Amino acid sequence: MPRTGTVLGAPAERLEGRQKVTGAARYAAEHPLSGRAHAWPVPAAVARGRVTAVDTSAARAEPGVLAVLTPGDAPRLAQPEDAILAVLQDSNVPHRGWCVALVVADTLETARAAARLVRVEYDAEPADLTLTMDHPDRYEPEEANAGQPGRVEHGDPEGAFAAAGTGVDVVYRVPPLHNHPMEPHATTARWDDDRLTVYTSTQGGTTARSVLAQLFELPEDRVTVVSEHVGGGFGSKGTPRPDLVLAAMAALRAGRPVTLAYPRRYLPTVVGHRAPTLHRLRLAADPDGRLTALLHEVTTHTSRVKEFVEQAAVPSRVMYATPNLLTVHRAVALDVPSPSWMRAPGEAPGMYALESAMDELAGALGMDPVQLRLRNEPEHEPGTGRPFSSRHLVQCLREGARRFGWEERDPRPRARREGPWLLGTGVAAATYPASAGPATAAARALPDGTFIVRINATDIGTGARTVLAQVAADALGTALERVRIEIGHSDLPAAPLAGGSMGTASWGWAVHDACADLAARLAAHTGPLPAEGIEARADTAGRADAEVPYARHAFGAHFAEVAVDTVTGEVRVRRLLGVFAAGHILNARTARSQFTGAMIMGLGMALTEHSTLDPAFGDFTESDLASYHVPANADAPAVEAHWIDEDDTHLNPMGSKGIGEIGIVGTAAAIGNAVHHATGVRCRELPLTPDRIL
Ligand code: MOS
Repeated sequence: MPRTGTVLGAPAERLEGRQKVTGAARYAAEHPLSGRAHAWPVPAAVARGRVTAVDTSAARAEPGVLAVLTPGDAPRLAQPEDAILAVLQDSNVPHRGWCVALVVADTLETARAAARLVRVEYDAEPADLTLTMDHPDRYEPEEANAGQPGRVEHGDPEGAFAAAGTGVDVVYRVPPLHNHPMEPHATTARWDDDRLTVYTSTQGGTTARSVLAQLFELPEDRVTVVSEHVGGGFGSKGTPRPDLVLAAMAALRAGRPVTLAYPRRYLPTVVGHRAPTLHRLRLAADPDGRLTALLHEVTTHTSRVKEFVEQAAVPSRVMYATPNLLTVHRAVALDVPSPSWMRAPGEAPGMYALESAMDELAGALGMDPVQLRLRNEPEHEPGTGRPFSSRHLVQCLREGARRFGWEERDPRPRARREGPWLLGTGVAAATYPASAGPATAAARALPDGTFIVRINATDIGTGARTVLAQVAADALGTALERVRIEIGHSDLPAAPLAGGSMGTASWGWAVHDACADLAARLAAHTGPLPAEGIEARADTAGRADAEVPYARHAFGAHFAEVAVDTVTGEVRVRRLLGVFAAGHILNARTARSQFTGAMIMGLGMALTEHSTLDPAFGDFTESDLASYHVPANADAPAVEAHWIDEDDTHLNPMGSKGIGEIGIVGTAAAIGNAVHHATGVRCRELPLTPDRIL
């Protein structure tokens, strides 16, 4: 069999692209099971308290209503590990929007109308929703999100900062942000006696199955989870959400299949959000621009239901050489919905703050901001002292500067004008960890010369299905067309979630190993294949999750050009250019789409995306896409992504680093720095809306 060698890295089109654009691809709420009913949630109308009574009589009287589940009568669940899944189990209301009843009806419209007729009475308590840096209840957690130490400190950062000649001491603010995938969180559930099948929108079907098995006290083999197509998640589908549990409870109660598709307006309170972060940055440098102290202190909120601490000071442990380093997280538990993962949790807000402060320091030193970063390139990872498996930040900055035309830049603010517009350019760096987790996969060779590769991976729109087929074809030495890939079903070999930019590395490793083993077996095989073919299986446990002595991260550099309207304060991004170093790029087409998509999300973080917790009512005021503004095409006219192909042998058999999240890291800082260059105004609170610029 000829080894093509051209499959991996090729810009292959998405295998399911036609299915998606023709509507043949079915999402979680689109499985028209016979007798299917619909559910509509009733969200809590107080920010803190207890439900004292639920009057369901008017709702039940509506023709077509099948059931109304309340905290008093919903099916009892085993205690979940994740407290947000303990829905309708007691009368406690931990935050506004918490589900306090669920209406099931034969049509969606009836369920929605009847939900309005459910009368809920509360015993409300005073609620605290306002995060401040000096909140009396703030505490320093041992750990931030993702198992990161809460505090890392080297040298004498306070002393070194106090002694410094040139320094900046600044505070940056990032508001709560929402994931808002195009497909809402949705589940269709069906019981056949004591077997449960769900079609659910998740980033990880293997987890969804174990959670359902645990909550409903079923053996895992009685639970089937299907998530063949998923319309985005951005972290909010990384762990199961209440729709999964509520749909299964509703189907149990109604005795019919039930779909619950969370209404858009209810998403912000139930699917997690990027917690607001307040950053105090203190940077000091010697006259040559070498950092003598870096202090990054983050204050953020968590909920009273569970602790989730946005690890926003963590990237400051990775980026720059300094003898005196302090990174610390502080949290306040408020009466807010539980924050959770959102694309580049930690890195996106943390690098906005650090990379903005680096720009301010460059200004204070009278130094070019690209040069300042080059000057502070570390030999080892500053936080741990480990060597980098590969680090090409310098190359990203140089290549980006060259492509962008950075050299011609006049460093003075307000130097370029075009009618009412002030023009400016800015730069910022990016980083994101490169990790993998254990996975299993199976590969089968059939007598007709084709192959079937099976793994319970999830394609949330990234192109993962296609890339895995490329990994398989490459390892098998066959053409992409000969590989059939099956993902998104819990009968398939178990695999971790699409999250942490680890999906392709984790799944690809197992697929690669299964296919390499199969290729070896085929090479040793003589005569025709048996009718059922030959199969090989792989399990990467103990290898993909092995400790390594290296710091493994992807890096990148963003360059932005903006025009600021001096009359209205409007900021237009004219050009965004990113250069990334993320190992081998496995599919040029889908990788470009990951990078540019994330850069546009970073543009939204910089300019349009804003959410406010209303301290009186406890809700997010921007709870739909009419008030929570994500960028449209016209907002993102010229977005370019390039990459440096890295040869890093300390990653996985493909030599790849994750690419799902790094594109959003640093983008907002590059844009903010460009706005400062254009106007001379340093706005330290996102987003950069006209009222803040003028
Ligand atoms: Mo990503 S926020 O790790 O799904």
